[in-house]
This record gives sequence, C-alpha cells and structure tokens, in this order.
Amino acid sequence: MVKIAVLAEQSGEDRVALSLDNIKKFKNLGCELQIQSGAGKGSFFSDKAYEEAGVKVCPSLKDTLDGADIVLAVNRPSEDIVATMKKGVILACVMEPFDNRPGLDKIAAAGITAFAMEFMPRISRAQSMDVLSSQSNLAGYKAVIDAAGQFKRAIPMMMTAAGTVPPAKAFIMGVGVAGLQAIATAKRLGAIVSATDVRPATKEQVESLGGSFVAVENEEFKQAETAGGYAKQMSEDYQKQQAGLVASHIAKQDIVITTALIPGRDAPILVSEEMVRAMPDGAIIVDLAAERGGNCALTEKDKIVEKHGVTIMGLTNLAGKLPVNASSLYSRNLYAFVETMIFAEENKLAIDWEDELISGTLLTHEGKVVHERLTGNGS
Ligand code: NAI
Repeated sequence: MVKIAVLAEQSGEDRVALSLDNIKKFKNLGCELQIQSGAGKGSFFSDKAYEEAGVKVCPSLKDTLDGADIVLAVNRPSEDIVATMKKGVILACVMEPFDNRPGLDKIAAAGITAFAMEFMPRISRAQSMDVLSSQSNLAGYKAVIDAAGQFKRAIPMMMTAAGTVPPAKAFIMGVGVAGLQAIATAKRLGAIVSATDVRPATKEQVESLGGSFVAVENEEFKQAETAGGYAKQMSEDYQKQQAGLVASHIAKQDIVITTALIPGRDAPILVSEEMVRAMPDGAIIVDLAAERGGNCALTEKDKIVEKHGVTIMGLTNLAGKLPVNASSLYSRNLYAFVETMIFAEENKLAIDWEDELISGTLLTHEGKVVHERLTGNGS
C-alpha cells in the first residue's frame, strides 16, 4: 500500500497540499493518507474533518513522515524538516528550484527524490497537473478584487438620479493565465478593459473576453512565442516602441494589473516611473510579478506604497489569500500527478522514469540534483 504524508506548511502559508474534496480520489487509488495535525487550519479543513474522511491525523512531524513513500507539501519544506525525511522518499511540492541552491543540494544528499511541480511540462496531458495555472488563475482574480478594494471610486458605470458615475478603465499587462482571469474579472465588475502581451495568440483571447488589445503588431511581434507557449525576450527596439504606445495608453488608466513573466528571467519592466507619474491621481497598480522583481519600476515586494499619487501593490502569493480554492485546485494538481506514479491494481509505486512528466519535474534523485535546467545541460 502506498503511504502518502501531507505536511503542515510554515506560518504565513494558509494553503495545504491535501484538500477534503480530493481525499476520496487518493483513497480510490488505494493510498493510505496521513496528515500533520493543524495542516488544514488555514483553509478551514479541520483535523476532525480529515479524520472523518479516513485520513490519519498525526500529532508530530515525525509521526506524519513515519513509513511515508510520498510526501506532499505546498512549499519546499525547511531544512529541519528535510533532515527528518528518510532516504528514498518522494517529495512533490513547489520547489522554487532556482532559489536556495545549498538547500536543494541537501535534499539531494539526503537521498530524497524531489519533484518541482512548477516545472510541469506544458502539454495537454499535464494541464490538470499545472500548478502555475491553477494558482495564477486565482491570483489574477484576486489582483482585480484587491485593486477594487483600494480604489477610491466605483468600477462600473452607474446612472442615477443624482448623476452618472463613469466606469473605471482597467489595463492588464501580460495575458497569460493570470492576465486572462484579471480581464474576465475586471469585465464582470464593469470596467472598460484593455490588455497587452507580446504573444500574438493573446490578441484574439483578449478580444473574445470583451477587452481591446494594445500592442505594436510588427514582424517581431508575429514571431514572439516559443514552442512551449511562453513569451520570448523582445528586442530593445521592440521594447522601446511598445513602451511609447503603452505610455500614452497608461496615462488614461485607473487600474493597471501587471502579470508579465519570462521563464527563468527577472520580470521585464513595463511601467517606468515616468509612466506612473503620468497616471491619474488615485490610480492603482497591482504588480503580480513582484515576486520576480516586478513589472513596475517602483514596486516594492510585499508592500503597498503610494508614489506620485498612485497606489502600487506588490503583494505576493495572492493565490494563497484564497486558500480554500487554492488548496483544492493545488491538491487536485498533485493527485493528477501522483496518479501517474501508482499502479493501482497492485497498490504499489510504478514510476516511469522516461515519462516526460516525470523527467520534466524530477529535481533530485539518488543523491544528485538531476534536472537539466539546474545541471547546466539544458536551457
Ligand atoms: P507567464 O506567467 O509566463 O507570463 C504571463 C504573460 O506575460 C504571458 O502571456 C507572456 O506572454 C506575457 N509577457 C511576457 N513578457 C511581456 C512583455 N514584455 N510585455 C507584455 N507581456 C509580456 O505565462 P503563463 O500564464 O504561465 O502562460 C503562458 C502560456 O502557456 C499561455 O499561452 C497558456 O495558455 C499556456 N499554458 C499551457 C498549459 C498546458 O498546455 N499544460 C498550462 C498553462 C498555460
């Protein structure tokens, strides 16, 4: 029988790797589940509810890890926790592979087989395992809600006997998973929505959600997408032209949500100090790229600051602020991944090391860091 342990996260993280609605699925695979006491508290999943659903609730970390074949977590566990994990155990979580390399080396040295969920290949078979998508979608929604909360005006147009309240204008920069949800949410709130991206495929997506598309659509733009569906780094010339277009547009916007990322790089700066200065007083910028340096030059990570009359929100882990949904979707991502590792009929682990889902996410194995993006053998 495959035994799965679920860790409690460290403080500041309300998500949990096993939600109540996914327990049955794991059980149907024949897995035995054990969870650290209090792990679900931040998502309102009580120990009692886990117990009633057939999960063993363990009082200590040691008991939680006892006999586990697979350990599930949201974030990479601390070095203290790693030190208590047994050799050969499988760990699946968001590993932040490019951060804290010494910590990663320790995970390898401990003989842990660690999978980085954020390295999941973007192929259709892996869509249900894509944690970046499941969490970014929620973050895109929350960004607009947070902006609306800070905004000192109403968003929809209101026609009343006392006069007309004009609709707010929202501009979404970066139309990936988070950006698309931000467009949809801003639209639902009644904003006049526009958006920009460097990937040509996004133009139609923006328009189909009722937004207008703002971009320099030259030859470079038409080629600007990698085979993996991600953005390419644009030339300096393109960036200059695009900045000119954006500068005149942004000066009329009330709410700007920035989500632009390029894998493996710092976030591109799309909103300069000069652009912020040109925005109307009381405008709001929510910078979802704050974690990777920010898309706005004035963003301060994990802070809300006011500059030139504009409120700039650099809060990170926005999906974690909706822990009930975020845990549920993340847990479903993990289930879909773990399912591929289990031979249910015989109730045992059966990992296909050649499978691109496995090789694409495998970070450490048999004492070594093995992923090509970390060993220098890949891109
Ligand atoms: P992301 O989080 O890497 O980046 C967000 C957005 O920023 C992207 O749309 C990117 O083109 C844009 N961007 C980058 N540089 C920019 C610049 N200078 N100016 C304006 N925009 C800029 O992207 P995300 O959300 O991870 O999605 C990327 C693509 O992958 C999407 O097409 C999505 O549909 C696809 N995808 C495929 C999956 C699968 O097949 N399993 C799963 C998830 C996403």
